[in-house]
Amino acid sequence: MSVEQIAEGIYSVGALDWDIRDMHGYSTNRGTTYNAYLIIDDKITLVDTVKRYCMDQLLENIREIIDPEKIDYIIANHIEMDHSGSLPEVMKLCKPEKLICSPMGKKALLDHFHHDDWPYEVMKTGSELSLGKRNLQFLETRMLHWPDSMFTYIKEDAILFANDAFADHFCTSERYDDEVDSSTLMWECAKYYANILYPFSGLVKKVLQTIDEMNLEIKMIAPDHGVIWRKNIDTIIDAYRRWSSGVAEKKVLVIYETMWESTRKMAYAVEKGLRESGVSVKMINLKTTHYSDVIADVLSARGIILGSSTLNNGMLPAMNTFIYYMKGLKPFNKIAASFGSFGWSGEAVGLMNDILTDLKLEVEETGIRHKYVPTEEALASCTELGRRIGAKVAAEFAE
Ligand code: FEO
Repeated sequence: MSVEQIAEGIYSVGALDWDIRDMHGYSTNRGTTYNAYLIIDDKITLVDTVKRYCMDQLLENIREIIDPEKIDYIIANHIEMDHSGSLPEVMKLCKPEKLICSPMGKKALLDHFHHDDWPYEVMKTGSELSLGKRNLQFLETRMLHWPDSMFTYIKEDAILFANDAFADHFCTSERYDDEVDSSTLMWECAKYYANILYPFSGLVKKVLQTIDEMNLEIKMIAPDHGVIWRKNIDTIIDAYRRWSSGVAEKKVLVIYETMWESTRKMAYAVEKGLRESGVSVKMINLKTTHYSDVIADVLSARGIILGSSTLNNGMLPAMNTFIYYMKGLKPFNKIAASFGSFGWSGEAVGLMNDILTDLKLEVEETGIRHKYVPTEEALASCTELGRRIGAKVAAEFAE
């Protein structure tokens, strides 16, 4: 990443990772960036570091501005390894006066790197620190998305360093939201929210409320992945308000995996009923779509209808993976149902329904099961399921 001055004396000095395609199971199809920021003030301050294998990019970028050994303070807004992996080496090189983190951040740093000799400076919500001309304010954002997570705000420049919040896994040579395609950006932001922040939606709402109550002027949001928000700040904040509140679109997903085409026939019969009811429908075959992409669609859909054949008394493997992944992300405000074909035991539909019920979704049926190859009558029952759910969703969006 070339160095970019984002405000007078404040530089983006992070790293581009064009190649990464998997982040602990999240398919990063467009790569990602690990953003770090350098503030030149009486106390020269580095905000976050980068993944271990990107450290040379970080140091090269810093050296374009100053000798890294001149850094006085390092802020660790988040301790996950994509932002702290290079911290031990950077600490050794810079020997900063202060290593600034949240209370939980200190614990996490000790548990990761086992350095009780580092100069920890713990900041709680509301703590302030002067760099000379600028003053930093800190806001603990516990469980957004780790216990250690924290925001750092520069009052004078109205910049919010938001670590993983308002982020996206989208590697581009452009640094700002208004320089990239907006629909691609918003898709990547939705995917990021769904895969990283979805289970903490209640806390996202609280943090948004806190930001409102603090009446923070925000001219720029500088996250630790993807682009910096400078023009469409309201767009991303509004999107976070919608996603964290479960605001859905008039859209139903049919998410399925099939063994010998019978469950696929049932899926298309469900889709026919949904289309007839006038809702937007998306068919998702789990054999051809990565589960972390599916979750991005789940975030905005009002309905999800799951289909799997039964294999070895359970669900097919891709559905098994998807549904347990989805369970961990705790989707809410969804109408849900399940269907599938079977040969003799037929457990898949019951298992899917149990998980949908555990998630406290609005489960419509006990599920539709058909033996081996569905008859026309059996397919008609699937179409009827699609019609019923489609009509319910359509009615909610009727004027
Ligand atoms: Fe980008 Fe939670 O690390």
